[in-house]
Amino acid sequence: MQVIERVTELTATLEARRASGVAVGLVPTMGALHDGHASLIERAAAECELVCVSIFVNPLQFGSLDEVGRYPRDLASDLVVAEKAGAGVIFAPPVEEMYPQMPAVGVHVAGGLGATLEGASRPGHLDGVATVVAKLLAMAGACRAYFGEKDYQQLLVVRRVVVDLSFPVTVVACPTVRAIDGVAESSRNRLLSRSEREAAPVLCRALRAGAAAILAGESERSEVVALMTAIIEAEPLVELDYAEVVDAASLRVPERLEGALRLLVAARVGATRLIDNVGLAG
Ligand code: PAF
Repeated sequence: MQVIERVTELTATLEARRASGVAVGLVPTMGALHDGHASLIERAAAECELVCVSIFVNPLQFGSLDEVGRYPRDLASDLVVAEKAGAGVIFAPPVEEMYPQMPAVGVHVAGGLGATLEGASRPGHLDGVATVVAKLLAMAGACRAYFGEKDYQQLLVVRRVVVDLSFPVTVVACPTVRAIDGVAESSRNRLLSRSEREAAPVLCRALRAGAAAILAGESERSEVVALMTAIIEAEPLVELDYAEVVDAASLRVPERLEGALRLLVAARVGATRLIDNVGLAG
């Protein structure tokens, strides 16, 4: 496995491999790799001859330097996880390599997609994600790019980046990987204390209860939101940010609970903000 820090080397390496007929898969990450990342890399390795995993904690998508500093990092263990899952190239650039001049020119996620849910709760976050993903796609060139459904709004943003900025990239959405108690795999889970980790399944429980209510015939969105809210608020270590049911394609609040829907929650578990979601097919 080759570890690359420079953009020119990354682009030249992937370009040369593509020229010899190799299909390239890209798995963008911020490191602290877990089973969810491993599943993305394995899927990419099953579909592409060369898998590049990027590991970069992107400062543009955090609210403060404090938050950037708190994000878990473990490059040595990441290299082991990535290689075992099938990565051939690791791209782990220093910040100055990604952003030679700050403030950087970036991508703005316009309209409702950028303003709702994570966009409303974390101003600038989705623009930061869109900017770094656009840069990574520009560096990687034609490829298949793998993203987890755990960050559902991010996935929709990435799809818009690819279409609106005309990248020769196919976005592949991969299912959320969960621990046995239902907690969605996330690098941030490493920041939870033991009692916080024990409280964290409440997010998934609330989502499953909301989905079950809709499947059982509940047609009032506000009732489903109230149900999820009550379940999460009953857990003292968890502070709810939002619980919502939206149209799966537009993220708009639907007039009626029909068609493809997404139930999403965001909450602080202690000092750590977690998000999760489940889908209902139309
Ligand atoms: O999902 C993540 O880890 C990040 O948001 C991403 C897509 C790698 C961009 O920094």
